[in-house]
Amino acid sequence: MSAELLANKRLLVTGVATEDSIAFATARQAEVMGAEVVLTAFPRELETVRQLVGDAGLRAEVYPLDLTQAGEVDALTDTLRSRFGSFDGALHAVAFAPRDALDGPFMEADPAGIELAFRTSAWSLSNLARLVVALAPDGGASLVGLDFDANGGAWPVYNWMGVCKAALGSTARYLARDLGPAGIRVNLVAAGPLLTRAARGIPRFDALLDAWATTSPLHWSDSDPAPVADSICFLFSDLARAITGEVLHVDGGYHAMAAPLQPA
Ligand SMILES: NC(=O)c1ccc[n+]([C@@H]2O[C@H](COP(=O)([O-])OP(=O)(O)OC[C@H]3O[C@@H](n4cnc5c(N)ncnc54)[C@H](O)[C@@H]3O)[C@@H](O)[C@H]2O)c1
Repeated sequence: MSAELLANKRLLVTGVATEDSIAFATARQAEVMGAEVVLTAFPRELETVRQLVGDAGLRAEVYPLDLTQAGEVDALTDTLRSRFGSFDGALHAVAFAPRDALDGPFMEADPAGIELAFRTSAWSLSNLARLVVALAPDGGASLVGLDFDANGGAWPVYNWMGVCKAALGSTARYLARDLGPAGIRVNLVAAGPLLTRAARGIPRFDALLDAWATTSPLHWSDSDPAPVADSICFLFSDLARAITGEVLHVDGGYHAMAAPLQPA
């Protein structure tokens, strides 16, 4: 993609934890494409992420943000407005669920953990959208989130995170409805499995990797987030100016197959 694709765009990227993070790959690619990038990290990981960003030679400043907290979004909005002015988009790359909500008997998971998973992984898109609205007073901004598969089927694992991703998809569509008149677009990228810290926290994640090995028509690399990052950058760009409420599958074509193409 063109090095100029995101020239003159200022983007907020949430969800950097490690150099494997989809958010980290996106930030790096967005800078290559000409964007000014500002990052957020979960507060207790702030110094680690600043170190990571500095070591990688990224120009982005890093701010703390817990996206489950409306007050933190309000405070960050004020900070970013006075430091930078307006923004042209934001990436929501945040999810969390306790282990018992990701695997094991579905009906036995602790409801308190499920509520936290929903607040972190689905409602937080709406929380971040408030920041985008406030920092894009002239409209024209792009909010992008990250889904998994998005066909709504049940997986061998994933459990309540699957429910949260379904809720994230619905949240994105309602946000697209409400923010479209202001020219703000809301889309999701449904990525295939990538070996990030969040993915390693999913028990039996190998079952998902095995599914891609037998069913994705295109070769899928679980250690290369670049195709996902490129597609996020496309959705940030003006090339995607008429796209909202969409789920863009960047999964090697897995979602379009009805059955495995080769034996396990
Ligand atoms: N890795 C995959 O296979 C895959 C596939 C499809 C979609 N996704 C989605 O991509 C997104 C990014 O995940 P990743 O795979 O890059 O893993 P990751 O572990 O690198 O990123 C997850 C991020 O969520 C952050 N986070 C958790 N709770 C938070 C909170 N309350 N406030 C702010 N930040 C919080 C973590 O600090 C971390 O930076 C998630 O939404 C994930 O569900 C991942």
